[in-house]
Amino acid sequence: MKKLFVISLGGSLINPGEIDVPFLKNLRALILAQIKKGNKFILITGGGSPARIYIRALSALGESSAANLDWMGIYATRFNAQLVRLMFGKLAHPVIIEDPNKRVNFKEKILVAGGWMPGRSTDDDAVRLAKIYGAKTVINLSNIDYVYTKDPRKFKDAKMIKEISWKNFRKIVGNKWDPGKNLPFDPTAAKLAEKNKLTVIIANGKNLFNLKSILSEKKFKGTVVS
Ligand code: UTP
Repeated sequence: MKKLFVISLGGSLINPGEIDVPFLKNLRALILAQIKKGNKFILITGGGSPARIYIRALSALGESSAANLDWMGIYATRFNAQLVRLMFGKLAHPVIIEDPNKRVNFKEKILVAGGWMPGRSTDDDAVRLAKIYGAKTVINLSNIDYVYTKDPRKFKDAKMIKEISWKNFRKIVGNKWDPGKNLPFDPTAAKLAEKNKLTVIIANGKNLFNLKSILSEKKFKGTVVS
């Protein structure tokens, strides 16, 4: 059966300090193989290191409005989105998505989206896109293998989670969007995902063999929130 996959690509995978070209090459090869099987993709790109560098610079220049700092981050996500769009050539829709609430009828195999508006992260954009295109699952890729009950770098008794309900997951991530906080999934996105009855798979994007297992419904490493 042909499928539409919605994948949120954490910015740390695209640009952890400089652009990870080998990672992008391998990701492209994996996606091209999937497209040959008839599958389609919506890819949402995070801001990564450029988002943080530009936000820090703007803040050092005296900007204190949270919304304006978020806008700087959004432009970084859109710049990454252009890189990902262009690396797929004609297979990608020629325009990146900026508003995840408007449906475009794309004929291409890939649609690429960046950030939308202040006060959220690209996790939220991914949830909105899944809803509008009727996908039941969002694959959220970053640099962690699993979500833990607490921050595993700080707490020795933190436990790895394989499956969790939205109710319990939201107790871990809280309710409020806090730009500085490093959470496995944006709380506002979690709220919306719960409301829309979505499943979110949180996995390590670096492990492309694992991503292949997720796409082919085989056993994989990652936290399933539903
Ligand atoms: P993300 O936080 O989504 O990127 O967007 P990321 O690099 O993948 O984040 P990590 O790796 O999960 O930490 C970068 C910044 O852009 C702004 C926010 O400031 C966010 O922190 N942003 C992004 C928005 O304000 N609105 C959006 O819709 C998307």
